[in-house]
Amino acid sequence: SNKVLFDLVLFGGTGDLSMRKLLPALYQLYRSAPFKSGTKIIAVGRTSMSKDAFLAKVEEKLKQHLPPDSWDLVSWQQFAKHLTFISIVADKTESYRELAPLLSEDDRPRVFYFSTHSSLYSSIATSLGAQDLITENSRVVLEKPIGRDLKTAQSISDQMSNYFTETQIYRIDHYLGKETVQNLLVLRFANPLFESLWNYNYIDHFQITVSESIGVEGRGEFYEETGALRDIVQNHLLQMLCILAMEPPPNMEADRIRDEKLKVLYALEHLDTDAINKNVVRGQYSEGLVNGEACGSYHNEEGVSDQSNIETFVAMKVQINNMRWSGVPFYMRTGKRLPKRSCEIVVQFKEVPHWIFDTPRGQLMSNQLVITLQPDESITLRVCGKRLGPGMDVRTIDLNLNPESRGNKRSADAYERLLLDVIKGDQTLFLRQDELEQAWQWIDPVLLDWESSSSPPEPYIAGSWGPAGSTLLLAKDGRLWFEGIK
Ligand code: BG6
Repeated sequence: SNKVLFDLVLFGGTGDLSMRKLLPALYQLYRSAPFKSGTKIIAVGRTSMSKDAFLAKVEEKLKQHLPPDSWDLVSWQQFAKHLTFISIVADKTESYRELAPLLSEDDRPRVFYFSTHSSLYSSIATSLGAQDLITENSRVVLEKPIGRDLKTAQSISDQMSNYFTETQIYRIDHYLGKETVQNLLVLRFANPLFESLWNYNYIDHFQITVSESIGVEGRGEFYEETGALRDIVQNHLLQMLCILAMEPPPNMEADRIRDEKLKVLYALEHLDTDAINKNVVRGQYSEGLVNGEACGSYHNEEGVSDQSNIETFVAMKVQINNMRWSGVPFYMRTGKRLPKRSCEIVVQFKEVPHWIFDTPRGQLMSNQLVITLQPDESITLRVCGKRLGPGMDVRTIDLNLNPESRGNKRSADAYERLLLDVIKGDQTLFLRQDELEQAWQWIDPVLLDWESSSSPPEPYIAGSWGPAGSTLLLAKDGRLWFEGIK
C-alpha cells in the first residue's frame, strides 16, 4: 500500500509558514498517500493553546490556502485525528519532557521540522538531544534562511552535527520541489537538442525572475533582519541558477546532483566592491499601486523602522567562470510589491550570425526557452517561422512543451513533494552542508558591503518592475528584461 507511517514534530507549528504551506501540504499528502493509523503530527508553538483552538485555526487556514476543490470535510476530520498541539519554550530544556510521551516507540521515521527563526535551531537540537528524543531513524528539516551569513550558518552546522549525521539533515529549499524545476533536469539531460546547445556558443544569456505582488504581509519583523538577498537570492535564485548551469551528473543520486550544483557555486565570479557597484542593484518599495490597489511604502509596514535600509528588491548580473559559461551573463531579480506574482526563467539563445530576411530581427526574434513556474507551470520554446501568405515575413511561433496534459491530475505542491521525500529518506532535492556554506560565502561580501554603506536602497514605486537601476543593468549590455509571452 502507499500508506505512510511517521511521526512529525513541527516547531513553529502556529507560525506563518506552517499555517500557509506546511499544514496544507500535509493535508494534501494525507489525501494522496493516506497515513497509516498511528501517524502523528505534533505541532509545537510558544504560546499555550488548547488542541481544539489549534484545530480550529488550522481548519480556517486550510480553507483559506488550499485550492478550493481540495477542501473536503471528511478528509479534514480524518486528517485532524493525526494532529496534536503542545506548547514548548524553545530554549527551556525541561519543557521538552512533555514531547517524549507523545512520540511513538517503534522505529518509524521521526521527523523534526524546524520552522522557526534559525537562531533557535541549535537550542532546539540541544534540548532534543538532552531529552534523548533523537532516534536512529530521526530526520531534521531545516527551513531557510539557515543563518544570516557564513559564520552563523557554520555555527548552526557545528551544533547540528553534535546530534544529527549529514544523512539525517534535510536543508529545504521549496523551489527545488516545484514540478517545473525538476522537469528542467529532464529537459536538459534527456534532450540532445537542448544539451548540445546549452553552452556559451549558443546561449546569449539567462534571466531568472521571482516576482511577488504581496508586500511583507505581517512579517515585517522577520523581513527587517532578512531582506530579499537572504530571503530569496541566497537560496531560491541560486538553486535555480545551479540547476540551469550544472554539468550533467552521472546519475540521479542525491550526492551526485549536489556535487554538480556545488561546482557551479564554486565557479561563481567573486563579487568585490567594484562588481557589487556595477552588477548588483538593491531597491525598496515606496508607496504606489499594485493591481489597482493603493499600498503604502515598505517603511509603513508594521514592524519596520522608518529608517530601514533593508532591500525588498534585488537585481544582479552574475558570471560563471568555467568552460561552459564563460562570458554568458545570468541576470536574476526578485522583489516584493512588483506588478504580479510570477517566476520565470528565460534562456535567450544567440542570433543567427547572418540575417537574410527583410523582417527586422532582435532579441525577440531569436530562440527563447521560457520556463514558467508561477503562477502556472509551463515551458515554451519560441522559434521563427514564415508568416503564411506571399512574401518572406518572419514571425515567432511559441511551441508549448508542457510534458503532458494534466487533465484532472493535480500537480503536487512543492512542500507536499518534499515532505514525502523526507519521510521516504530521499535527500536529492535538499541542500548539503557544503552547498549551503558556499552559497553564503558568495553572498557574504554583498551583505557586508550593504551593511557598511550609508546610502539607502534605490526606491521604486510599488507596482512597478523595480528601480531604474534594474532596467539599466541590462540596458548597459544592450538587453531588456523579458516581459512575458504576449
Ligand atoms: C519564501 C520567502 O521562501 O518564499 C517568502 O520567505 C516568499 O518571502 C516565498 O513569499 C515565495 O514562495 P512561493 O512558492 O509562493 O513563490
